[in-house]
Amino acid sequence: MADQKAPRATTNRSTTPGSDTFKQYISSQWAERPDEEVPAREQSAFAARRRAAISAAHPGTRLIVPAGQAKVRSNDTDYPFRAHSAFSHLTGWGADTVPGSVLVLEPTADGHEATLYFRASAGRDSDEFYANPEIGEFWIGPRPSLAQVGTDLALATRDLADLDAVIAAAGSAESDDDTLVVREADPDLTRRLDALPTGATDKTVDTVETVDTVADRAASLDVLSRDLSELRLVKDDYEIAQMRAAVAATKRGFDDIIDDLPEVVAHRRGERLVEGTFNRRARADGNTVGYDTIAASGPHACILHWTTNDGVVAPGDLILIDAGIELESLYTADITRTLPISGTFSDVQRLVYEAVLEAADAAFAIVRPGIRFREIHATAMAVIAEKTAEWGFLPVSAAESIQPEQQYHRRYMVHGTSHHLGIDVHDCAAARRDLYLDGVLEPGMVFTIEPGLYFQPDDLTVPEAFRGIGVRIEDDILVTADGAENLSIAIPRTVADVEAWVAVQK
Ligand code: GLY
Ligand code: MN
Repeated sequence: MADQKAPRATTNRSTTPGSDTFKQYISSQWAERPDEEVPAREQSAFAARRRAAISAAHPGTRLIVPAGQAKVRSNDTDYPFRAHSAFSHLTGWGADTVPGSVLVLEPTADGHEATLYFRASAGRDSDEFYANPEIGEFWIGPRPSLAQVGTDLALATRDLADLDAVIAAAGSAESDDDTLVVREADPDLTRRLDALPTGATDKTVDTVETVDTVADRAASLDVLSRDLSELRLVKDDYEIAQMRAAVAATKRGFDDIIDDLPEVVAHRRGERLVEGTFNRRARADGNTVGYDTIAASGPHACILHWTTNDGVVAPGDLILIDAGIELESLYTADITRTLPISGTFSDVQRLVYEAVLEAADAAFAIVRPGIRFREIHATAMAVIAEKTAEWGFLPVSAAESIQPEQQYHRRYMVHGTSHHLGIDVHDCAAARRDLYLDGVLEPGMVFTIEPGLYFQPDDLTVPEAFRGIGVRIEDDILVTADGAENLSIAIPRTVADVEAWVAVQK
């Protein structure tokens, strides 16, 4: 069978009774459950257009896009399941995706026929509904039927057991069709396809193509992942509306943190409270967080991905909070704000903050269709070089430092300024460099602008007063027909606005 994993060992836990008497009794006396019609969800029409686009790019090729399986956390407990982003993009199925589902686009004379294979509810005449903790209704709740998902997503649906016939067709000697699979999504399924006698999966792109980065090399092994990643570079209207909603929810999470600041400051692990407050909002208003919340107070702000979050939040310090709420559709915001915990910036904190803000504003000012993505980073870095040179931190001038072979200023900001954003926080990661880093901006692209300055507590190149200060300001940007919109502009970001925001608690 395509999916059937044996239930995980639970030998030391009490098991359900196995007698025929019990089986008959537990399977009886349940009221009929009507198979309710579900109207097609809004995103289904958008997903159909995305499927048409990938179909047009691969005529005659069978395309397999798995949702993936739940990952084991320990023994018989799993991490929360999250569908592969390419699967969600092409089906419109988000947080409620049934684990193990697979979308198949079967080639036809004039395109492809899409079918969604998934494991529907186990009937009450089987023992699964009460005895299987991974899929049983008594354990994880009811699953939708094939008919319900079919109308909900406006897709043909079949039971996952029928996927075996697709795999057999892929391996059949008579089959002229190549098969492509999103290889990373469900490694077991990929291995099954690779093991077929015909070697059915045509997974490599033309070797004459320029392959000049690690990412490009990885993409060259998985042409379908690459193409589906590139399909997400420009967001449609549904996606843009989701990004706005994700940013609005994230703003509420930041507001909650500010409301909780007195309690946060009083706690020995105030950073954990910040994380907890934000994550509470994420679960209440969305699906979850789009990535682990960074709550980095004082010198922790100099650790770019500080997610341990076990420090104090001390008056007089800054706290850098990098957090985003992921909605049920899986679209996520990615916002950073750096706040003065006592309500006002010190002179040095303000100097650093305003330099970062200037870099962010300079980068935003150039965004419009037709410029190259990499110009955004170059523009922000020119400001970072100017400021750090002006403060006397660089052994050369700003003009010299920005030369590719020098880059002294990057000591204080080693990360990039921008990444695409959408279903994944680092969206479109398998896209070719030509379309991403070296790509030209188009209306509908969404990405971050997130410059920062980080002066490590033991950095001898900067005066003591700067050491231990870390500032990042991150906004989510939409490219419009003639410029750009800062989707997160309503979250305070100037010195005066941030101070007024925090002052609500003073
Ligand atoms: N917000 C985390 C990151 O962009 O890496
Ligand atoms: Mn980011």
